[in-house]
Amino acid sequence: MSGSEFVVVANRLPVDWVPDEDEGSGEGAWRVSPGGLVTALEPLMRSTDGAWVGWPGKADLEFDRFEFDGMDLVPVALSADDVELYYEGFSNDTIWPLYHDVIAEPRYRRVWWDAYGRVNRRFAQAAAEVAAEGATVWVHDYQLQLVPKLLREKRPDLTIGYFHHIPFPAYGLYSQLPWRRQVLEGLLGADVIGFQRVADAGNFARAIRRLLRYETRAPHIVVPDADGGTRTAVARAFPISIAADSYIDLAQRPHVQARAAEIRASLGNPSKILLGVDRLDYTKGIRHRMKAFGELLHEGRITVEDATLVQVASPSRERVGAYMQLRDEIELTVGRINGDFDTMGHTAIRYLHQGYPRDEMVALFLAADVMLVTALRDGMNLVAKEYVASRIDNRGVLVLSEFAGAADELTSALRVNPHDIDTLKETIMQAIEMPPGEQSRRMRPLRRKVIDNDVAKWSRSFLDALAAARSQKSPRGRRARA
Ligand code: F6P
Repeated sequence: MSGSEFVVVANRLPVDWVPDEDEGSGEGAWRVSPGGLVTALEPLMRSTDGAWVGWPGKADLEFDRFEFDGMDLVPVALSADDVELYYEGFSNDTIWPLYHDVIAEPRYRRVWWDAYGRVNRRFAQAAAEVAAEGATVWVHDYQLQLVPKLLREKRPDLTIGYFHHIPFPAYGLYSQLPWRRQVLEGLLGADVIGFQRVADAGNFARAIRRLLRYETRAPHIVVPDADGGTRTAVARAFPISIAADSYIDLAQRPHVQARAAEIRASLGNPSKILLGVDRLDYTKGIRHRMKAFGELLHEGRITVEDATLVQVASPSRERVGAYMQLRDEIELTVGRINGDFDTMGHTAIRYLHQGYPRDEMVALFLAADVMLVTALRDGMNLVAKEYVASRIDNRGVLVLSEFAGAADELTSALRVNPHDIDTLKETIMQAIEMPPGEQSRRMRPLRRKVIDNDVAKWSRSFLDALAAARSQKSPRGRRARA
């Protein structure tokens, strides 16, 4: 196969390998993972004959490069050790908690760092092998922060972009990282480094100044080159979004609307349905929202006939200690609140530790009067945007944490500090009691924002910035101008 002009590199492939019932048989099938990134990049992958380099999502499975639904996929195998040390360890027990403002304590283990370097080299090698001369390579997220530099060393002819899907922390926290310089140098291998929020790009530039002493003038960073000269990298915000059309389309379908009514009825038609939809992650503030909801029930300000909280918490990173502990705490809380307040016909919290297909999620969004996004720290929070896009009736209330990236754009939501439980309770009451006129006055501008700034626009603007970086390069991969 000839080299690809456009290469995506992400920890996961856009498809998951689902083994047959009889796991030992080695048989199974590929299933498209529902992530937004696939939706955003699929058209581009097809029009450019692009390749996608990533992990198939299961340990110890070796696959050759293959085509799936018109996409050229390049699997990178991870052993059980790699999964434990690189994915669960360094990515999700060091970087994830550190970059989310140490909500959980990050663990710094040298053996995890070694595995992170080893696996990042493997991804860089795979990308270097499939990219055509002068191709564009787009690297994604915190699991692969060393790939831009490693790739540039192997292939200076490439134009390299990196997008960081999670927050980039303030210097006071970032500086804890024992490998803080190496990670910055890894990222600076990219020509364009994208962040969710302006504040993330600012934190990154400050870390660069403090630790590497490179000159920065937003959005530019002057980086020393391999040949003793300099080049200029761009680091700025490109807030990610969703495929708004597909949510609108689903929300208009009669079977989805019928399902929304069925969901309400199956909960005993409470006056109001409150909804939380998250990966089961300590960054999402699930405990905070349950605490506030539980106190409102205790105080008699609401009853289970007035309001039911539906909490979808999809399983995530289940072998990492902090996630196991969180699950225990949440399930204890749900059990206590339901035990105290449920009646035969109504429940306080309907807790679902499961993932659902998109049409079921849209039905839930349509059924929910109030959407609770109470993240303690979140890169963007696409669920907030999915809820808004689905509300084709311009009804419903979004309660949105100021610590989610989406708060920068979704300014007419009810904004909360989820640590402030009293104010969170007042805000939940305000949402429950909000008259329809105010709901739609707030919902309309939210929807405009999400529809006008969809994920296609996001990828276009990032790739335009990369194309601009590319046009300044001489054919051999050096900057014409420093
Ligand atoms: O939020 C960052 C992110 O990498 C998302 O892009 C992704 O959907 C999520 O975390 C899931 O992570 P994992 O691959 O660990 O299941």
